[in-house]
Amino acid sequence: MSHASELIEKDILQYLDAQEHKSFLRFITCGSVDDGKSTLIGRLLYDSKMIFEDQLTSLEADSKKVGTTGGDLDLALLVDGLAAEREQGITIDVAYRFFSTDKRKFIVADTPGHEQYTRNMATGASTADLAVILIDARKGILTQTRRHSFIVSLLGIRHVVLAINKMDLVDYAQDVFEQIKHDYEVFAQALNFDDVVAVPISALKGDNILNGSDAMPWYQGTTLMSHLESVNVDRDDQVSSFRLPVQWVNRPNLDFRGFSGTIASGTVSIGDEIMALPSGHRSRVKQILVGDEDCQLGAAGEAVTIALEDEIDISRGDVLCAANDPARVSDQFMAHVLWMHHEALLPGRPYLLKSGNRTSTAVVSDLRHKVNVNTLEHQAGKTLELNEVGQCTLSLNQRIAFDPYTVNRDTGSFILIDRLTNNTVGAGMFDFELRRASNIVWQELDVDKQTRANQKHQKPCVLWFTGLSGSGKSTVANLVEKKLLTRGKHTYILDGDNVRHGLNKDLGFTDVDRVENIRRVGETAKLFVDAGLIVLVSFISPFISERRMARNLLGEGEFLEVFVNTPLEVCESRDPKGLYKKAREGKIKNFTGIDSAYEAPEDAEIIVSTADQDAETSADQIIEYLEANGYLESDS
Ligand code: ADX
Repeated sequence: MSHASELIEKDILQYLDAQEHKSFLRFITCGSVDDGKSTLIGRLLYDSKMIFEDQLTSLEADSKKVGTTGGDLDLALLVDGLAAEREQGITIDVAYRFFSTDKRKFIVADTPGHEQYTRNMATGASTADLAVILIDARKGILTQTRRHSFIVSLLGIRHVVLAINKMDLVDYAQDVFEQIKHDYEVFAQALNFDDVVAVPISALKGDNILNGSDAMPWYQGTTLMSHLESVNVDRDDQVSSFRLPVQWVNRPNLDFRGFSGTIASGTVSIGDEIMALPSGHRSRVKQILVGDEDCQLGAAGEAVTIALEDEIDISRGDVLCAANDPARVSDQFMAHVLWMHHEALLPGRPYLLKSGNRTSTAVVSDLRHKVNVNTLEHQAGKTLELNEVGQCTLSLNQRIAFDPYTVNRDTGSFILIDRLTNNTVGAGMFDFELRRASNIVWQELDVDKQTRANQKHQKPCVLWFTGLSGSGKSTVANLVEKKLLTRGKHTYILDGDNVRHGLNKDLGFTDVDRVENIRRVGETAKLFVDAGLIVLVSFISPFISERRMARNLLGEGEFLEVFVNTPLEVCESRDPKGLYKKAREGKIKNFTGIDSAYEAPEDAEIIVSTADQDAETSADQIIEYLEANGYLESDS
């Protein structure tokens, strides 16, 4: 390696010792290739001499062949391997590059800059202490600059370098630099950075990167590298108390039970009192293993196994904390969410929330506002689209241990996962916990579901009819109800059109409204089952996710999905309410099957095909199912 340090050759041990004791700075570069990001990173690697001899030789050759710098070294080629790999279809989330100078070691997270790569930027930013925000001096501050700055701030970065690049292309003009610096400072006021240092640079020519610039005598400030080498990024606002999210319970034999995971923050020593959350049980640390080795102490970043003095119940996903400064516990939160998927966030829809090693089910109960990244203003909204950020309330199915993101970036962050596709769709930060209305308790009543069901001589359940508009759901449900009635059964029909006249008259047909429509009717159906009734629900209910939510509200065997499987062409030719015609003419928006999706069930208990058989036969088919499965026996 053509490294500067002659120490390597003279005294390798002293060199390694010096390396080990240097401080570390993790930073992220934000900007696009067009802003000169690759050239800048290439320049930092080159100037700090972190380039291998063979890389240098091929860089010289490539610069002559394909470079854009007229035969001079094209430093962008050092990092643009990335772009080529991307073209070949290899996904690169974040590339971490290492370099060092005599004063400090650096890890730079290089993330693709285009809008669709916001998620990668968020990943890189979540572990960085400083962001270099790159600006093309000719273009000034763009929406992208604002978006990146906002996300960087949201993810807890407190130090920013505004690298105003391509100064050579604006004749090294001071007024261009000052204007951009001023504009940015005005914009960034609300972002709570500790410091914003603007540096006029030319990554291409090397001005103010490692050395000062003769071309800009008016600039008296620091060079980029000397700032990176000296900036103090210690955080005293972050919790440094011990947190260990338990990854697995290690039980090789009956005599040993250890809790393994990577320490998220703080240190732990033998004899320390810990608290396991969410249970709140306390114990003391008996043994600490790092790998196979017994240690006195474990510190943040280390993978450890901890054995405790007492047998307390701890499972995967729990968090071991310092007993004198434990994390908090809740199942209701205020949080910021960055949405990363082209299908919008739907309040009311259950997602999986993964925080540390615990996965819960989470529903966004209310989107408080979204943030306009250009103006940082709060805006009202019902959903979050790709790359949008909003503050919302979250309701989880269980209590979990957490810290606010502002005090602990590990235990304060989470991701949201789509339950059907397993895609990561959002990233979030806990702001604080919300208390459930503590004056509402579950009222136990003496007459219960079983008693009511026995009185009616039936097994209460929901027959959930799903299918396109005009598929025959209501017609078949109506016949089934009549047949049940003649057998002395007690029933009720919840029909989409009817419920939308009252309980749900405030809802339309957007995805968000349909989710809420089904949530409400699911809850209502559950109450009617509790009343001992056989409930027939006849709603299009187009989404798998919400039908599953309704199913999960009910007990085993209480939810029977009836797929009224009538092809779109047949429904459209029937068009009983003339709605398909209007939808085709564009007079009705979001019409199911036309410009709004219908997700057919994959595991419906009953499928009726009204295109091949009449409604009477379909109704009989359902009655037969109920009979065969014991729903109609008189004393069940
Ligand atoms: S759901 O999708 O939210 O489950 P729901 O079953 O309540 O729908 O209501 C569907 C009924 O509303 C249809 O049978 C039809 O009569 C009427 N309707 C009006 N506009 C639409 C639309 N855009 N899409 C579907 N149905 C509509």
